[in-house]
Amino acid sequence: MVEVLEQSALAAINGKSAGIKTVGIIGAGQMGHGIAQVMAHKGELDVIVQDVNAQALERAAAGIEQSLQKFVTKDVITSDKKSDILNRLRFESALDALKDADLVVEAIIENEEIKKDLFKKLDVLVKPSAILASNTSSISITRLAAATKRPEQVIGMHFMNPVPLMKLVEIIRGAQTSDDTYAIVADLTARLDKTGVMSRDFPGFISNRVLMPLINEAIFALFEGIGSAENIDTVMKLGMNHPMGPLTLADFIGLDTCLAIMNVLHEGFNDPRFRPCPLLKQYVDAGYLGRKSGRGFFQYS
Ligand code: CAA
Repeated sequence: MVEVLEQSALAAINGKSAGIKTVGIIGAGQMGHGIAQVMAHKGELDVIVQDVNAQALERAAAGIEQSLQKFVTKDVITSDKKSDILNRLRFESALDALKDADLVVEAIIENEEIKKDLFKKLDVLVKPSAILASNTSSISITRLAAATKRPEQVIGMHFMNPVPLMKLVEIIRGAQTSDDTYAIVADLTARLDKTGVMSRDFPGFISNRVLMPLINEAIFALFEGIGSAENIDTVMKLGMNHPMGPLTLADFIGLDTCLAIMNVLHEGFNDPRFRPCPLLKQYVDAGYLGRKSGRGFFQYS
């Protein structure tokens, strides 16, 4: 039954997202500003990036500018195109700035209560037709949807880091997500020049159900002294052709995020095979959060 619904929705998506013209992105962190960049660039959409932290907004604007400059230097886009993309972006600190958005993508901290609170506020603020999407990497879309009065218009759009380079968007249908909302978001994903893959709404979806236990197991291998961090990563890079070893990837994602996702899997499935490695917990307690804090399994200057 699920297969049939997916196929019919897929067949009918072309052009479905034409009504999406203005997109709001909440959270100007690494994921939020990457999503904003791709929406303005590939989607040619007007984008409002909202964050309560003015410094985060400044960093986001600078990060987008730098990323686009790399594309100019490589002749992927012209300087005029870069200016056009930058002109499509607005940076705002008040949530009210999003009231006319056709789609809002939330990319804030991975905390269910904070996200639910935000979805409740958005539900009142944005127009009745607007779609509310979350970039969550593991929190239940069904529960976020249930916090609103428009649960059929709530969906997961899970982008991968670094967003301008990674081809995948995992599209998560909550139990209540309508076929129409799915079709609009699937069509928009194609407009962004990304490949959308649908996942049902269970802990970790597809991506982190598979990725996080692999990273966690690599951390156990380090914890148990089976190999050094360098050796574990080299095995996976040279032996399995992964672009980054799992410990480097964990540092890149953020060890706090990895721990939060392992906790969601552990609690969600109530299965000891998803228990987070004690070394991961200890590193997070110590503030060794990976690249963003200068130290994780490796050191960063
Ligand atoms: N914008 C534009 N260009 C960028 C960029 C950005 N944001 N980030 C990197 N680049 C460019 C670099 O400048 C570099 O250009 P040159 O080749 O001209 O120097 C090029 O991309 C390649 O980068 P690097 O040389 O630094 O390194 P690399 O060859 O290893 O590629 C990578 C970087 C694409 C990130 C690659 O290592 C990779 O694919 N890693 C795996 C990433 C991954 O698994 N991401 C998913 C994480 S999971 C997630 O996000 C979701 C979750 O729920 C946890």
